[in-house]
Amino acid sequence: MSTVSFKNISKIFDDGTLAVTAFDLDIADGELMVLVGPSGCGKTTLLRMLAGLETVSSGELLIDGRVVNPLPPQQRDIAMVFQNYALYPHMTVRRNLEFPLRMMKLGKDERRQRVSEVAGLLGLTALLERKPRELSGGQRQRVAMGRAIVREPKVFLMDEPLSNLDARLRLQIRGEIAALQRRMRTTTLYVTHDQVEAMTLGDRVAVIDQGRLQQVDEPQNLYAHPANIFVARFIGSPGMNIFRTELHPTEDRGLAIDWGRQRLPLHAGQAHALRKYLGKTLYAGLRPEAIHYPDAPDVEATIVVKIESIEALGHESLLYFGYEGRMEETRGDLSPDNNMVSPLMVARLAGTPDAGAGESLRLGLALKQLYFFDAEGSAIC
Ligand SMILES: Nc1ncnc2c1ncn2[C@@H]1O[C@H](COP(=O)(O)OP(=O)(O)O)[C@@H](O)[C@H]1O
Ligand SMILES: [Mg+2]
Repeated sequence: MSTVSFKNISKIFDDGTLAVTAFDLDIADGELMVLVGPSGCGKTTLLRMLAGLETVSSGELLIDGRVVNPLPPQQRDIAMVFQNYALYPHMTVRRNLEFPLRMMKLGKDERRQRVSEVAGLLGLTALLERKPRELSGGQRQRVAMGRAIVREPKVFLMDEPLSNLDARLRLQIRGEIAALQRRMRTTTLYVTHDQVEAMTLGDRVAVIDQGRLQQVDEPQNLYAHPANIFVARFIGSPGMNIFRTELHPTEDRGLAIDWGRQRLPLHAGQAHALRKYLGKTLYAGLRPEAIHYPDAPDVEATIVVKIESIEALGHESLLYFGYEGRMEETRGDLSPDNNMVSPLMVARLAGTPDAGAGESLRLGLALKQLYFFDAEGSAIC
């Protein structure tokens, strides 16, 4: 039974780098919490602070409701698996797995018992007498994981444990980690910069940018209800298209927005939520999945786009196109919009479109699926 809480945690390194700011997060007993965000956003620093390998500048870390800030790593009962796991090359798999148990001064029978259990769990039983150099990358990674599991810690920390593996192996071991975690139900914090990995693995996912928590929720809710533009663009592959727009009253007392030189009418519900943003900065978002061929069922408006490039994946294609209008004005300059708006729009289309780069194509928009964000990038609706 273990819960973990970050309470208003900040970290400033000696050189003045602000790595984590006012970070709050509660992880439930047995939960698999994924921390995801771009490189440098503070993920490793968060794990290292929890493990006791890095001091906390301010705030409290709690394990099972107990403040652990002053405790040395050995007393926190946490096991960590790193990206660059190192096995002892001269020791067999069995000895590698046993090593932490010897450090814990467990007796021989108990050691044997735990090692054989963990080896069984991870499919390493037949490999116990091998040396690390006689193992594949995936097998070595399993041994590294086994060495953390065998200690039966309160909490597992995994810092991009799969990033050195090839894509196929990553997929396989990701599945194994999820299954293992579900079986053992040890509270786990898993760090990755890969949003697909985060979405497929986490019970909940915490999205981090520049040392700040942006949103924490179940994967599907992050996708359906992003709290801000950062999350909207980060979650999804590719992420949400964002463009700057403005509101215009229509003759029937509704509202419309600009998409390039075109006006797109909004639904009554959208107009209701947005009325107070008339004359104000507004960003609109549309997922690549909400841009279709013009004859698709939920299409309510069509636009003609000039294709920049196409990535044909067989069963579907990603079609990239420029956004004529405000985006052209901001592209290449340093206006704050550049962190907000997408440099290119992208549509996810079934099959392969009958057109190529440089050509024009008519696309359909599912306007019901528009998202709106205010000048700060916070979600409105
Ligand atoms: N020992 C350190 N001294 C100064 N800055 C550091 C140190 N370790 C990490 N940083 C900085 O803190 C920020 C967060 O780093 P890190 O936690 O490693 O990010 P992530 O794991 O998300 O890639 C980065 O800007 C990084 O350069
Ligand atoms: Mg890191």
